Amino acid sequence: MDSQKIKIEDLSEEGYSIGHLDGRVIFVQGICAPGDEVEIKIFKKKKNYSLANLISIIHKDENNNVKPLCSHFGVCNGCQWQHVLYEKQLEIKNQHVLDKMERIAKIDLNTTEVNKILGAKKLTHYRNKLEYTFSCQCWISEEQIKNNVEIENKNALGFHKMKYFNKIVPISTCFLQQDPSNEIRNAVDTFCKTNGFSYYNFHEHTGDLRNLIIKTTTLNQIMVIVQFGDVEEKKIHLLMNFLKTTFPQITSLQYIVNKKLNETYFDLDVKTFYGQDYLIEEMDGLRWKIKAKSFFQTNTQQASILYKKIIELSQASSEDVVYDLYTGVGTIALYFARYVKKVIGVEIIESAIEDAKENAKLNKIENSLFFCGDVKDVVTEDFISQHGKPDILVIDPPRSGIHPQVIETILKIKPKTLIYVSCNPSTQARDIFALKESYNVKQIQPVDMFPNTYHVENICALELKK
Ligand SMILES: C[S@@+](CC[C@H](N)C(=O)[O-])C[C@H]1O[C@@H](n2cnc3c(N)ncnc32)[C@H](O)[C@@H]1O
Repeated sequence: MDSQKIKIEDLSEEGYSIGHLDGRVIFVQGICAPGDEVEIKIFKKKKNYSLANLISIIHKDENNNVKPLCSHFGVCNGCQWQHVLYEKQLEIKNQHVLDKMERIAKIDLNTTEVNKILGAKKLTHYRNKLEYTFSCQCWISEEQIKNNVEIENKNALGFHKMKYFNKIVPISTCFLQQDPSNEIRNAVDTFCKTNGFSYYNFHEHTGDLRNLIIKTTTLNQIMVIVQFGDVEEKKIHLLMNFLKTTFPQITSLQYIVNKKLNETYFDLDVKTFYGQDYLIEEMDGLRWKIKAKSFFQTNTQQASILYKKIIELSQASSEDVVYDLYTGVGTIALYFARYVKKVIGVEIIESAIEDAKENAKLNKIENSLFFCGDVKDVVTEDFISQHGKPDILVIDPPRSGIHPQVIETILKIKPKTLIYVSCNPSTQARDIFALKESYNVKQIQPVDMFPNTYHVENICALELKK
């Protein structure tokens, strides 16, 4: 098929640029952005859309003349929107949220207060956690293939190539986390390559090394966790001692031995090799103790903005009882505790609930209670008659959204205000639609937690229908 011209209108979550041709949606692979006029070649026609490769950019929109900072741009799937002006990124994210609210939640945007997305000040070095994977199969780029580049050692430590469960893009500099994140990763990679460690083989499920997690805090604490495969004890000690002596600034050095087929470690023992088994973070006068398995928002600066906005939208008063479902280490609950009568947090990860209870003590907060378990099993009518009906219910679930049983419970107990926080506006919109018989969406507030990526966080404030 011959090449054709289209204008790019949008960017998709999967990393495609989107345009239309003769009424059909075209997903374009290649680096271009909304406003660009491009030449494309269609290589696959599906029922409702076509896939195309970018051939050339005929006219570049002036908003897209941003030079990507990172040398891995276009190969690594981490920060795919680096070539788009930040203001334009925000516009696109805002629009994505509103589209979902209109299309899936069926909200009338004319009667809903829609606030402009809250952008970030820091566009790089904004993450407090990065997770790198070891693989014996590094990603080989088209350019390397074309130039017949000889790759002697195919072991790689870096990020997964999108859609390839086994291929890893080796990373030399990542602009997402403050130093010494890059030094630690590169030193570990060099040390392991020169000391005969084997990197994970995703087909055979063998290899000494599986992944490396680096967490940092604004108080300059550093947690490093190495996830090993089926490895000899002396190799664990070799790498751990290397990290301990090379990076004395690490405050928590931990490891996990994972012989399972999958990489999740929530059901495994995390062993402390050196230092504490937790990190301390500080935000808005509150201190947080965070252990290895606990969730903590990865952009600390934006998390502070997010939490303050949640409090504002809830219009909480000193007589209110607040439930914080999916509470993690109790962050939202303890933000509320200062303004309301009582807060109750529920979370599935045991160590996170232990952290939440300790965080209440650490911050001298006495009006909070935390419970461990699946929200759908814990928050029952019995639980509510025991602990009091919530006036405000905050819901901040994982990407998959809320279980239908939780929706049923909400519809039965009918708190006057719901604050639904989500990193996945599609599932959020689905759940809001299911709550529609009893709730109106009063306000929508997107927040950008992840500049240069398609990710967007969204807060919806819902009020009980009269
Ligand atoms: C998006 S995080 C939000 C955490 C917290 N609100 C914060 O801002 O740090 C979602 C949390 O839900 C927890 N979680 C996931 N499924 C759950 C379930 N079925 N019941 C209770 N908690 C769950 C996760 O462990 C995680 O801590």
